[in-house]
Amino acid sequence: MLKILFYDAKSYDKDSFNRELANFPEIQIDYLKSELGPSTAKLAKGYDAVCAFVSCDVGTETVEILHQSGVGLILMRCAGFNNVDIEKAKACGIRVLRVPGYSPEAVAEHAMALALAANRKIHKAYVRVRENDFSLGGMLGRNFYQKTAGIVGTGKIGAAMARICHGFGMKVIAYDQYQNPSLDFVTYVTMDELLAQSDLISLHCPLTDETYHLISRETIQKMKDGVILVNTSRGGLVKTDDLIEGIRARKFSAVGLDVYEEEKKNVFEDRSDEILESSVTARLLSFPNVVITSHQGFFTQEALAAISQTTLSNAMAYVNKEASVNEVE
Ligand code: NAI
Repeated sequence: MLKILFYDAKSYDKDSFNRELANFPEIQIDYLKSELGPSTAKLAKGYDAVCAFVSCDVGTETVEILHQSGVGLILMRCAGFNNVDIEKAKACGIRVLRVPGYSPEAVAEHAMALALAANRKIHKAYVRVRENDFSLGGMLGRNFYQKTAGIVGTGKIGAAMARICHGFGMKVIAYDQYQNPSLDFVTYVTMDELLAQSDLISLHCPLTDETYHLISRETIQKMKDGVILVNTSRGGLVKTDDLIEGIRARKFSAVGLDVYEEEKKNVFEDRSDEILESSVTARLLSFPNVVITSHQGFFTQEALAAISQTTLSNAMAYVNKEASVNEVE
């Protein structure tokens, strides 16, 4: 029996993993609410594997403690692994496996939901109608039909978003170093052309040194007046202060953010009882044309099922001493 200690477990994680466990009788999981980090790693003594998420600290110290505790496998139940010291894990003989892709459509559909909500002010309408206020002032939106969608990064999620925009009757243009051959309805352009022509810009490239603060004062100035910006990729792609400046200058008709630079402390936590110290999120939320969600693009039943299925298959690759394409090296 392979014993896994599952960190940072939320109720929806337990539900989807327990459902999938029925297909994996060789695996036992114990769930912990705490995140994996140097202070909680020793709890894994007696377990074969740990399962961690994107916000856990799986750095050098944690990996060393896991090694001393006899853990031989780190299962990341997410695509990203920048929070794992891979070299250290390798040196300790610990295998690290991840879930590279689970449901691109989940994130793309959320990107379109944000674009539509922010454009048609669904967030304001919901509150207004609940107060028996049926007026329409401030609700004016724009058609997407026959407008231009600019997709930055046409990998799995960007391609799904391009297909959705195409289905809305939009002209779809894109910027990527690599052209996706499945997108025959997309015109590839330079980044400057994309900025100048798009009515809706949706970001789907990864966060790298090159893409850090891709959206800044300089690029915002190149955009069309009244553009709609959506970011479901990574907060660091957008320089928040410059975005706020652009919103104040009326550059954007709508902004939808599933990710933002300051999200680390907020993501997946209920902080409704707290007086928040930082003002950037609050400032963004003060604008009537901004909709923010809490890094929930991935959060569909189908994506969670795929995450648990792949994670447990990864665990079986370890049990059976098999190589895996999901190995992080
Ligand atoms: P992918 O690897 O399939 O596609 C990324 C694309 O971006 C590739 O085609 C690549 O060539 C392109 N790219 C790289 N650098 C670029 C640049 N400088 N300019 C333009 N394009 C560039 O990745 P996938 O699965 O589509 O994910 C995209 C991003 O979505 C991830 O990096 C991640 O940050 C984010 N994501 C967000 C989630 C959420 O819940 N909001 C969930 C999963 C991923």
